[in-house]
Amino acid sequence: MPLPPLASPAIGVGTWAWGNQFLWGYQPGQDRALEACFRRAVALGLHFFDTADSYGTGRFNGRSEVLLGRFAAALPAEQRQMICVATKLAPFPWRLGRQGLEPALQASRRRLQGKLDRVQLHWSTARYAPWQEAPLLQGLADGVGAGVVPQLGISNFGPEGLRRIHGLLAQRGVQLSSVQVQMSLLAPQAIGPGGLVAVARELGVEVIAYSPLALGLLTRPAGELPPLPSGPRGWLFRRLWPNLQPLLARVEQIASGRGASMAAVALNWCRAHGAMPIPGLRSEQQAEAAAAAMTWNLEPAERLDLDRLALSQPAQARMPANPFGSR
Ligand SMILES: NC(=O)c1ccc[n+]([C@@H]2O[C@H](COP(=O)([O-])OP(=O)(O)OC[C@H]3O[C@@H](n4cnc5c(N)ncnc54)[C@H](OP(=O)(O)O)[C@@H]3O)[C@@H](O)[C@H]2O)c1
Repeated sequence: MPLPPLASPAIGVGTWAWGNQFLWGYQPGQDRALEACFRRAVALGLHFFDTADSYGTGRFNGRSEVLLGRFAAALPAEQRQMICVATKLAPFPWRLGRQGLEPALQASRRRLQGKLDRVQLHWSTARYAPWQEAPLLQGLADGVGAGVVPQLGISNFGPEGLRRIHGLLAQRGVQLSSVQVQMSLLAPQAIGPGGLVAVARELGVEVIAYSPLALGLLTRPAGELPPLPSGPRGWLFRRLWPNLQPLLARVEQIASGRGASMAAVALNWCRAHGAMPIPGLRSEQQAEAAAAAMTWNLEPAERLDLDRLALSQPAQARMPANPFGSR
């Protein structure tokens, strides 16, 4: 049976940087700007917020959830109800068995001040501890049955893993809401026949595209190497830059033809493939640029052109794959 045409998904907000000093240079002095970003995002219709119990480095561990919980609690009740806060629980090796995620779930709910709408398993353990995964998911499915896990999602699973987990939950009558995957013009592996996007669409599972701006690389105009961010991001920018020029030039061309930002073009490429991008945002201006992308769609010819350029990028010019991703 032919599948229905794709509706244009919304755009969400990623909060990995909120509390991450190591990669993103977080300082508590940024909290005021982060709250302004959050409020602007909510006001402009960016209603899905992604966080994780492992976000925040060193003494800031858990900070992303703490900030989201605080910001959401300060919203008027009707806005608070409108947004969806999704956390990811990490399947650390010591979190074992059907009740293995229960303390983590309670801790996340506390940090989020009760505003927890979706729980996602952060990554698949299929590559290194295949026995760990099913009991953890059964435990989360128990939580759905008991009403303590409103919605359930997974993250960093490939098409095979998605089928496996969807089947496991379907046997219990539990719906899998979403699957999260690294997806951008520099990580296009999920598109194409038999890929994650196609399987998710067949199963009726929402696809969430993480790192849709390739950590910001896709927002830099082609040409000279731009000023490098500090730390590992700078190293990545320097390594990938020489091979990105035709792709960035085309993104820039589409953006300037519409008076849009390059970020909007990169986000709309994800949406054109039926995925909801969750760009990492830290300022009101970035929230505005992301929201502006929801006002237009790529033309099919533009999408095809970007597909061709993305898929023909040499392997060394793509984003590194998540080491915990399963097939
Ligand atoms: N499931 C997983 O394993 C997983 C893994 C990674 C990420 N994620 C989720 O996905 C979210 C997004 O991914 P990400 O944070 O890795 O990277 P990203 O969204 O690809 O890129 C974030 C970067 O984009 C820049 N940016 C945002 N809007 C911009 C605009 N309008 N113009 C110019 N630059 C802009 C930001 O700039 P500044 O540096 O100036 O702020 C930041 O550097 C995360 O926050 C997290 O919630 C999930």
